[in-house]
Amino acid sequence: MSSQNINKGVTITFLGHACFKLISPQGTTILIDPWVKDNPQAPRGAENVGKLHYILVSHGHGDHLGDTTEIAKKTGAMVISMPEIAHYLIQKGLNPEKSVGMNKGGSLIAADIRITMVHAFHSSSMVEENRIIYGGEAAGFIVRFDNGFTVYHAGDTGVFGDMKIISDLYKPALALLPIGSHYVMGPEEAVYACGLLKPQYVIPMHYGTFPVLSGTPEKFLELMEKVPEVKVLVMTPGETID
Ligand code: NI
Ligand code: MN
Repeated sequence: MSSQNINKGVTITFLGHACFKLISPQGTTILIDPWVKDNPQAPRGAENVGKLHYILVSHGHGDHLGDTTEIAKKTGAMVISMPEIAHYLIQKGLNPEKSVGMNKGGSLIAADIRITMVHAFHSSSMVEENRIIYGGEAAGFIVRFDNGFTVYHAGDTGVFGDMKIISDLYKPALALLPIGSHYVMGPEEAVYACGLLKPQYVIPMHYGTFPVLSGTPEKFLELMEKVPEVKVLVMTPGETID
């Protein structure tokens, strides 16, 4: 897929489920929710991400925290997450300087991008030997590139009214929204979210991976006909917009 207008020189790769790789025009590389090794949707070899600067983790569930520890150790990337997850990752052997905790409403200015952690309406925990470990709250991220292009990765979430605040403050041109239902928004809720967020483009995610995720891009596309000002881009895992 290619377009001169969608992405303003930012390369966007969908690695299946909620995992996206973004590369800025200057080459800063960001991986969001890197569940790739056991992700049945991820393209083969997706764990070999190459050069990587930042990993953003929306929450502690296995399909989002995923292969963060291994990829961070291999690449030296800085991991950005809630303080509880940042602490957990240091216990797992990450260099404390490479595991940065932040919280909702705050931004981290890094090279040619600004990363803001925003609200998500969801839970967050890690599971080890049948024990639940507290993961702080679930979050979403706004990534603003120096050229003004702004992406909103919603993480796992239900729809919430403060998506309007996200729209007003950050004006994301592109929203990455879950549509699979059961654990997250379904198509109907994601359409409502688009009305609050008013992005130019939306890429549906978090569908089709497990049988319980009943929301489909077909249903989303059908319902989005009521919101013609937002263009839906359905990406195949492994596909890149550049
Ligand atoms: Ni989750
Ligand atoms: Mn999930």
